[in-house]
Amino acid sequence: MTFPTIAVVGGTGNLGAAIAWRLARAGYPVIIGSRGAESAEKAAAELGHGLRGATNADAASAAEIVIVTVPFAAQDSTLAGIAPHVVGKLVVDTTVPLVPPKVMRVQLPAEGSAALKAQAVLGEGVTLVSAFHNVAAHKLAKDVDVGCDVLVFGDDKAARGRVVALADAMGLRGLHGGALANSAAAEAMTSILIFLNKTYKVDGAGIRITGDLVPIEE
Ligand SMILES: NC(=O)c1ccc[n+]([C@@H]2O[C@H](COP(=O)([O-])OP(=O)(O)OC[C@H]3O[C@@H](n4cnc5c(N)ncnc54)[C@H](OP(=O)(O)O)[C@@H]3O)[C@@H](O)[C@H]2O)c1
Repeated sequence: MTFPTIAVVGGTGNLGAAIAWRLARAGYPVIIGSRGAESAEKAAAELGHGLRGATNADAASAAEIVIVTVPFAAQDSTLAGIAPHVVGKLVVDTTVPLVPPKVMRVQLPAEGSAALKAQAVLGEGVTLVSAFHNVAAHKLAKDVDVGCDVLVFGDDKAARGRVVALADAMGLRGLHGGALANSAAAEAMTSILIFLNKTYKVDGAGIRITGDLVPIEE
């Protein structure tokens, strides 16, 4: 098996660092991206497993698959910054459109979802998939069985399948969630999970699809 090089834009943060660490541990060459190369190199050195660090643009430029893990407020500017470096590539957007302070309330953007917004910013020359909206980063960052499903959305089935495989390699269970437009449901679910965390004192609620799923041919 050949492992594509992965860039994690915003990989110095909670979710990005955890994803980068899990993928690197699974054997993928991973480059952590940051607004500052030094921050990226520092984070990469701390996480080990051969991780490298670079600016977001350099990381995106060097990778085949680019995972974007920045806050909603930084989504537009971050995507605009990497746009010239991701044409023809697979971009995985993890953005949940949380609008502080009311993060327990579903507040989807006018475009319908953060994923559709990302596709609009990057244009049709990029294959956009969204995923990882419902996984608690602090759990992902630990060497434990998170026991969580990852719904993966995108209009290109093969591209979705590549991201399902990444989730599986991270020790999660990736599941096809259908078209990119369906991403709104998982993005909205995060506000409900945050509400559940607070209401029931859960340490990072996640989702699990019940029933016996028959594996599909990827
Ligand atoms: N945390 C979770 O459990 C979780 C779970 C599911 C989905 N998500 C989603 O994943 C995304 C990342 O979440 P996170 O908790 O990892 O975020 P975070 O730690 O707050 O930020 C991630 C990185 O984004 C960059 N960044 C922050 N503010 C920025 C700005 N104004 N402009 C440009 N870059 C900025 C920073 O990197 P540099 O300073 O190095 O550039 C930062 O390390 C969010 O959209 C979130 O909703 C998070």
